[in-house]
Amino acid sequence: MFLPNLIRAASKAQPILMLANTTAAIPIATAIARSASALQIRAMATEAPARHYGGLKDQDRIFTNLYGRHDFRLSGAQKRGDWYKTKEILLKGDTWIIDQVKASGLRGRGGAGFPSGLKWSFMNKPGGPDGRPRYLVINADEGEPGTCKDREILRHDPHKLVEGCLVAGRAMNANAAYIYIRGEFYNEASNLQTAINEAYKAGLIGKNACGSGYDFDVYVHRGAGAYICGEETALIESIEGKQGKPRLKPPFPADVGLFGCPTTVANVETVAVAPTICRRGGEWFAGFGRARNAGTKLFCISGHVNTPCVVEEEMSIPLRDLLEKHCGGVVGGWDNLLGVIPGGSSVPVLPKGICDDVLMDFDALKDVQSGLGTAAVIVMNKSTDMVKAISRLSAFYKHESCGQCTPCREGTGWMAKIMKRLETGNASVAEIDMIDEISRQIEGHTICALGDAAAWPVQGLIRHFRPEIEKKIYAFNAAKATEAVAESH
Ligand SMILES: Cc1cc2nc3c(=O)[nH]c(=O)nc-3n(C[C@H](O)[C@H](O)[C@H](O)COP(=O)(O)O)c2cc1C
Ligand code: SF4
Repeated sequence: MFLPNLIRAASKAQPILMLANTTAAIPIATAIARSASALQIRAMATEAPARHYGGLKDQDRIFTNLYGRHDFRLSGAQKRGDWYKTKEILLKGDTWIIDQVKASGLRGRGGAGFPSGLKWSFMNKPGGPDGRPRYLVINADEGEPGTCKDREILRHDPHKLVEGCLVAGRAMNANAAYIYIRGEFYNEASNLQTAINEAYKAGLIGKNACGSGYDFDVYVHRGAGAYICGEETALIESIEGKQGKPRLKPPFPADVGLFGCPTTVANVETVAVAPTICRRGGEWFAGFGRARNAGTKLFCISGHVNTPCVVEEEMSIPLRDLLEKHCGGVVGGWDNLLGVIPGGSSVPVLPKGICDDVLMDFDALKDVQSGLGTAAVIVMNKSTDMVKAISRLSAFYKHESCGQCTPCREGTGWMAKIMKRLETGNASVAEIDMIDEISRQIEGHTICALGDAAAWPVQGLIRHFRPEIEKKIYAFNAAKATEAVAESH
């Protein structure tokens, strides 16, 4: 079912989900995009852990060259199982591939977590082809601060992505894939191009890909380093040679996307796991993680841990296990933990009390008012000035706003200015509620989710670290008062 219809149908079934602002074009666009994930969240009451998750075994790893210890080229990739029986997968057809992806429970790894099988199926409309070419666009922009997983696939396992493009492309009956890679990823783009060239030479892609009778091209397009170009419609604009500014939706890319043709934008990791899902079966992938949070997942952990890393683990692994098993623990020990941003800079920070037992999956993190996002885990111990850390993020979002929507253009600037003053305490306590109110006027009132991304870190800070902000304000004002008294004598 096409997304707006899906939303309408679901809204009918559950009136509580009716969009609040259904008359204005901009909120509808944003609300539909957001409600897609909101719908899933509402429908997904978090289940108690059925068992202890985590401790993924080597034989269950999809990314077997994550650390670049082996050859990234075709011969190395084939030894690791890539391009095995790809022709058979292609010959099974679009419905079979989409059914496997649906059965796997795979949810998009680009941040929003929309069910991938369903999303990909929007490309195959009941009426059949309408004569326009169809495109698969791979989002390899990886701009979300803290996120560094896709680059490991691109530079160390690029054949996984190229084969993934072919399999996902076949599922959507796409004619070509465009891989939009962030410009700074020079070595990654180079290795990726090498893999594409090898795949063409071996007849794996191009005309009659893998001897399947299916023609499929893969192109690399290098971006110029704007965070907003990771937003799917801004990315499409950028490929078309225009400024990377998000489009109003509808129409959605599956209707009118790249060059006006049906398009699906998907994350590198999402697409790279598709061939293994097809080879090992959707049920195999669905066996990892809690219900509706299935699969294995790349987590990128940075900040105050002893050994920051990117690691493939089972979904729903407890955050504490993730940090202690793979990162040598928090610097200074678990009790020295201040807070964690669990899913890239856009999601709200969590204090230690919640980190103690939270699970790393979409639903568990949503339940504690944060999100899995890109699974970029930013760890901060007690040496961190949390107000300063979040202020830095506000400055980032102000800088990256494309300026199309007033709430985002103006609001990110206001928030950054207030946050800068809160860093030193040069503010009044009333301004804490004021910045919270600004963030809520941005959230849900913009064309794209950058507005939400700017609002949520500030909201998380106020929710969990309000006393820290107040302490700074009281200290600043006390020092000012002492100064004034000294001057008056
Ligand atoms: C401001 C902004 C930046 C984004 N950056 C990225 C990115 O760098 N990579 C990515 O895969 N998705 C990014 N996304 C999400 C994409 O719009 C899109 O949802 C995603 O690529 C879909 O892929 P998936 O279905 O495989 O998750 C961004 C979204 C926003 C609003
Ligand atoms: S929310 Fe911000 S970044 Fe997104 S379209 Fe509006 S102004 Fe641009």
